[in-house]
Amino acid sequence: MAKKVMLTGDRPTGRLHIGHYVGSLRRRVELQSDPSYDRIFIMIADAQALTDNADNPDKLRENVLEVTLDYLAAGIDPDKVNIFIQSAVPELTELAFYFMNLTTVSRVQRNPTVKTEIQMRNFEANIPLGFFCYPVSQAADITLFHGTVVPVGEDQKPMIELTNEIVRRFNATYGEVLNEASILLPDNKACMRLPGTDGKAKMSKSLGNCIYLSDTQEEVEKKIKSMYTDPTHLRVSDPGHLEANAVFTYLDAFCQDEHFAKYWPEYKNLDELKEHYTRGGLGDMKCKMFLNKIMQEMLEPIRERRKYWEQHIPEVYQILERGTAAAREVGQQTIREVREAMRINYLEDQQLQQSQSQKYSQTL
Ligand code: TRP
Repeated sequence: MAKKVMLTGDRPTGRLHIGHYVGSLRRRVELQSDPSYDRIFIMIADAQALTDNADNPDKLRENVLEVTLDYLAAGIDPDKVNIFIQSAVPELTELAFYFMNLTTVSRVQRNPTVKTEIQMRNFEANIPLGFFCYPVSQAADITLFHGTVVPVGEDQKPMIELTNEIVRRFNATYGEVLNEASILLPDNKACMRLPGTDGKAKMSKSLGNCIYLSDTQEEVEKKIKSMYTDPTHLRVSDPGHLEANAVFTYLDAFCQDEHFAKYWPEYKNLDELKEHYTRGGLGDMKCKMFLNKIMQEMLEPIRERRKYWEQHIPEVYQILERGTAAAREVGQQTIREVREAMRINYLEDQQLQQSQSQKYSQTL
């Protein structure tokens, strides 16, 4: 049976927030104990982060550790998962270079995620070539490890599609060496694209609308209290609206029926709460305080684990070292297969040397 390999990663450009958590991290923690996975890799994508942070390597230098701490705090078990650093696996760069021959500039230009990023970074007139190629490098990230399942957010869908196109092209050209991968999306819409506390499109550091996994209890409470709700819900008695109401989107992402039994037994479930809110007579602050309880319950053990790892930094680096060594071992094996299939394995191919010697010995 084909192996089941989970591969995923994050750019180390800042601490991880609850959008990362519901978008993919929570899933990875659940799946690390699923025995059907043969191997699990989580990559700290520092080389990819450099493609739009070339002038600020210190930011990444800091955040490689922060992101690793966030993983461990969230419950990633380093005995089950190989956490590794992208730039420390040069086989990735090699594979990406070969992949660049198997796709086109116009194919990458049509990638909607890349398009948005180019706009956001004002790259239109001057796209750095490395940045432009990152989707191709991401295809290498996934295939070098024979990744079959990639748990990521919706914005990464075009990357997985491109990966599979490249894989098909590679296999058709050089022989079946690589396998296709499937994306594993969060199971509900709220988790897919968690808005920021200001209700804006997406939680992101540059907008300053994040709740970080490492925020203190007080910080989280303060952020929740000032969250965007329904601007037309002026008096408690007014009917409230759920659309674009960040508090209710967060409840969709985080709330379970048990939370009502535990913290707000007047309601059985979220549907009942929503019904009361839209009817009118339910204040925003009450909903926010309920959300706060749910968030604190979720974040408290994450904070506690982070405290532990913060006191064990050398051990954290050992985890990265072990994970990276394991990743390189798999990477080297794949590269050997790739080079052989591509017929560029001159130095390892005894047969090639023999047959060429023979060819010329006959001309004597
Ligand atoms: N592009 C991803 C992000 O911005 C990070 C990433 C790099 C990744 N390589 C990957 C994710 C491979 C999944 C698989 O979050």
